Amino acid sequence: MKIFVTDTYEQMSRKAANIIAAQVQLKPNSNLGLATGGTPVGMYKQLIKMNEENDINFENVRTFNLDEYYPIDKNNDQSYYTFMNENLFKHVNINEENTNIPNGMADNIEEECKNYDNKIEVAGGVDIQVLGIGHNGHIGFNEPDGIFTKETNCVELTQTTINANVRFFNSIEEVPKKALTMGIGTIMKSKKILLLASGEDKAEIIRIMIEGNIDPKVPASVLQLHPDVTIVLDKKAAGKLSL
Ligand code: PGA
Repeated sequence: MKIFVTDTYEQMSRKAANIIAAQVQLKPNSNLGLATGGTPVGMYKQLIKMNEENDINFENVRTFNLDEYYPIDKNNDQSYYTFMNENLFKHVNINEENTNIPNGMADNIEEECKNYDNKIEVAGGVDIQVLGIGHNGHIGFNEPDGIFTKETNCVELTQTTINANVRFFNSIEEVPKKALTMGIGTIMKSKKILLLASGEDKAEIIRIMIEGNIDPKVPASVLQLHPDVTIVLDKKAAGKLSL
């Protein structure tokens, strides 16, 4: 694991955006695995700026998002489809047809999940997967469990995750209780991983993920087994590391 510690959230975001830009410069038709949540918003802002300044070209880039609530209409304000449009896609020269997010209204969930994994495989796999981390160690919506799930699947969200996400909704009742998410196996297949975390509230889970045991009760701990992981932290999120 490569670990970078920056002073501020802005620096973390800039570092992460530089890594994505380098990936796309080296391979203009990269498949980017993208994440939602508060953490990557600053990175997306930087990427938009870089795109305006012609420092990154999304023309031939394909994207695969980690997850989507279920059920949710893609036009709902809180869908991850809307999130990605608002925070990145509509501001850059990406071809909408090249963007992929699990369908939160799929009738046949199993088929949707299988097709999603197939689409990633047919595209040649994800070149770099951006991840945040939940307070309980989830990546994507892979919640603490007895086993590491392999493929894209439909999960019940834990109360911790529902509570963490209520800030985006009017009330707790409105937070969807399920989600479609790439499985741990899907995430582990990506060639590179870029995990970001910021803030003191992430310091303990970052310590456990990096220094603790590999345990499906801390889904992110599986990344210790991935051969190419870069972790970019602000100093608050790095505050409990003994390194
Ligand atoms: P956050 O979420 O970026 O909003 O903290 C991260 C996650 O839950 O994966």
